[in-house]
Amino acid sequence: MNTSNIAEKEPKTTAKLSSEQTLEIEDNHITVGSCFSDNPKMTMRNVNVFYADKQAIFDVSLDIEKNEVIAMIGPSGCGKSTFLRTLNRMNDTVDGCRMDGDICMDGDDLYAPKLDVVELRARVGMVFQKPNPFPKSIYDNVAYGPKIHGLADSRVDLDEIVENSLRKASLWEEVKERLHQPGTGLSGGQQQRLCIARAIAVSPEVILMDEPCSALDPIATAKIEELIEELSENFTIAIVTHSMQQAARVSHRTAYFHLGKLIEVNPTEQVFTMPQHQLTEAYITGRFG
Ligand SMILES: Nc1ncnc2c1ncn2[C@@H]1O[C@H](COP(=O)(O)OP(=O)(O)O)[C@@H](O)[C@H]1O
Ligand SMILES: [Mg+2]
Repeated sequence: MNTSNIAEKEPKTTAKLSSEQTLEIEDNHITVGSCFSDNPKMTMRNVNVFYADKQAIFDVSLDIEKNEVIAMIGPSGCGKSTFLRTLNRMNDTVDGCRMDGDICMDGDDLYAPKLDVVELRARVGMVFQKPNPFPKSIYDNVAYGPKIHGLADSRVDLDEIVENSLRKASLWEEVKERLHQPGTGLSGGQQQRLCIARAIAVSPEVILMDEPCSALDPIATAKIEELIEELSENFTIAIVTHSMQQAARVSHRTAYFHLGKLIEVNPTEQVFTMPQHQLTEAYITGRFG
């Protein structure tokens, strides 16, 4: 990748602060903090993402560590969702979107031409902002993935996968008597846990969550946050959130994005108590957002 080209096209970007102060991001900004890991699940190097000729992500390099919960925060439009979608090639489905750079999982290139994208999306599952259960029964929502990926040899196997996934998503006790009723009949928080059960059912290695609680009430949110902590024992989780409190509660490391650039990555506690970059500090102290 030729970074000098991008630097030429891209003028120095300026972050507007409410207090009329401005902070500049250098064209050749280098992420501060601890971006790399000795035990990475995913590695990204020099990733740029474009929508037609508009660049949305600038030269991001980052490791996501095995079994960590990493939170992505930053003002609206800073590229958090775009970044997250590069990790399971969901951007492939967006017209005019292209990326360059390298993204690997366990050392394998996720953008290799021969890679099976359907299989990748089972290995790297995704939970969206708005719960989106299929118009099917609770059982069939969870059984769908294992069926199409041939993960169950018998009905008994499938029943077991469905039960285990619903248990891991902390939903089993609430739905075990009504597995054959529509998933869409559940409350919002239950629907989101159903979507998490659906993602878990195909035994993913990584779960991506894009503002999974933004449509939920505080009680449902607390349940999902508790669940995220439990899930991190078995999965690697990358979560986008617009709530700094949520990032502080659920994540081990926090990545702060600004205008498509990865400004800082550090242990979550540090980001919220002793941020290393002045832009991170301006954001967490509410000077813009
Ligand atoms: N499908 C798309 N087509 C064109 N531009 C897009 C598309 N999706 C996002 N963008 C642009 O990319 C930038 C980053 O967006 P996004 O990743 O959604 O940010 P965030 O999730 O942080 O709010 C924004 O400027 C947004 O307008
Ligand atoms: Mg977003």
